[in-house]
Amino acid sequence: MDSLLPLREAVAKLNRPFQIGTCVRPALLRDEADYAATVAAQFNTVTPGNEMKFCRTQPTQGQYDFRDADMLMDWAPAHNLAVRGHTLCWHECVPDWLNVLECSRADALAMLQRHIGALAGRYRGHITIWDVVNEAIEEDGTRRANSPWQRLIGDDYLDTAFHLTHATDPTARLYYNDFDADGMGGKADQVYELVAGLVKRGVPIHGVGLQMHIALDKRPTQAELAANMARLTALGLDVQITEMDVRVRHMPGTWEERFAQQAVVYREALEVCLDQPRCVGFLSWGFTDKHSWLTKRFGDDEAGLFLDATYAPKPAFHAMHAALAQAAPAV
Ligand code: XIL
Repeated sequence: MDSLLPLREAVAKLNRPFQIGTCVRPALLRDEADYAATVAAQFNTVTPGNEMKFCRTQPTQGQYDFRDADMLMDWAPAHNLAVRGHTLCWHECVPDWLNVLECSRADALAMLQRHIGALAGRYRGHITIWDVVNEAIEEDGTRRANSPWQRLIGDDYLDTAFHLTHATDPTARLYYNDFDADGMGGKADQVYELVAGLVKRGVPIHGVGLQMHIALDKRPTQAELAANMARLTALGLDVQITEMDVRVRHMPGTWEERFAQQAVVYREALEVCLDQPRCVGFLSWGFTDKHSWLTKRFGDDEAGLFLDATYAPKPAFHAMHAALAQAAPAV
């Protein structure tokens, strides 16, 4: 592990501000030395995997719990890492009390204001980017009905959430973040329409996060990813790849063959991002196959990340370095 060339050092040679990052679990930063050392060595930004979500920060109505989030907010700057705040409005990780709550629109707006004030206010000035709204729409562009904010406030909760976050922490860059919207067509077109509407209405949105939870046979081509980033940035927005992992288990072939293909997918995505002046970061959802949400969500051995379960580099790690080296200006 010690001999791995740090990704953050390769990024430093790019001569442009660029975030290279991963989601982390604060408990593992505390309890597993290899995990913490790898995060500190490799990345320049981290996203809390769950610890800033609603069900973790307000499990009981009106009673906040910021212990895990605070731990990360102390640990990250001590290791020269920026923090991406994730996420203020989402339909998952909603506590039971909120899922069954019936209240007036005015009360729901007041609750949204308290929620955003509590989180964005607590960490004001220390969060570089907030995922203000996560996964607000379905594949066809209709709003997700199972979001408490959608249910209790209605369509305009999105505008309100961005305005409230901006008022609370004016220096944070504010993002809309979604999955299956990476390339062109389908949901990507719907996300484009949604954020174009926000921009047109003067809502303070600064970027779009393309999650890139993809699989070897379910992924955008380089041209599609580039075209989507180009149209989003033409709106005046930044983009980031925010949660990349690449599932391989369902593919035929040996693990070696799958990992070789996986490396191409990581390299191509990073190449496209580095080629776009306003693609300002590349973050994966974890980094070692030892600790990946895919195991729980999709079953064993999805092996979607770029270090193996012993923290040894997989071909994808070297491929990311190749993309970074290629993009660095000659000295
Ligand atoms: C995931 C976490 O990694 C899991 O631990 C949790 O059980 C479910 O949520 N898109 C997102 C992330 O924006 O917040 C999700 O995180 C993964 C998909």
